[in-house]
Amino acid sequence: MNELSLHILDICQNSIKANADLIEITITENIDKNIFMIEITDNGHGMSKLTLSEVSDPFFTTRTTRKVGLGVSLFKMAAEMANGSCVLSSIVDIGTKVTAIFEHNHLDRAPLGAIEDSINILILNEREIEILYTHKYNNQIYIFDTREVKKVLDGIPFTDYNVIMWIKNNIKEGIKMIQEEESR
Ligand SMILES: Nc1ncnc2c1ncn2[C@@H]1O[C@H](COP(=O)(O)OP(=O)(O)OP(=O)(O)O)[C@@H](O)[C@H]1O
Ligand SMILES: [Mg+2]
Repeated sequence: MNELSLHILDICQNSIKANADLIEITITENIDKNIFMIEITDNGHGMSKLTLSEVSDPFFTTRTTRKVGLGVSLFKMAAEMANGSCVLSSIVDIGTKVTAIFEHNHLDRAPLGAIEDSINILILNEREIEILYTHKYNNQIYIFDTREVKKVLDGIPFTDYNVIMWIKNNIKEGIKMIQEEESR
């Protein structure tokens, strides 16, 4: 996975598996502080302290004793490769938060990639989930909220081709705009 948007999709799949119906994805780019941060928060069933410690354990690849997935550890590796870190916090029945920090200009920081596609895939999930996507670039901010989009769509389903394309373009252009606005 050499795009962060694919890691984000993967981490959000955990949220869906945990029965979340709201996922908040926040990207914070701070050029002065050389930070690229990804925060993913869900309202799913959360994890016990034991599960959380196992998932966060960097030596948990002793795969013979239990079935351990790759999603979180790959994300963690991607962050560490860019001199950053990834931490999880979770409360049973409340939800889970995954925070990954990267050095913005690190040569090994993967590009964000097509986040608009990841968001569309999440929206088209068979079980309805709301997505709040916030992208901050220095002092600029772009927000995409399925709950707001729904109001505008007035009954047109998210599966409608035109809606899919509109969402894709809105997110893509929205991010481009905050980045350009800032560099003026
Ligand atoms: N948002 C979340 N809510 C509840 N539990 C979670 C969440 N994210 C991760 N977990 C727990 O951590 C485990 C490991 O997650 P990880 O994504 O690394 O692997 P996986 O989802 O089991 O497998 P894979 O991602 O390879 O398909 C999950 O099986 C689940 O028990
Ligand atoms: Mg997973």
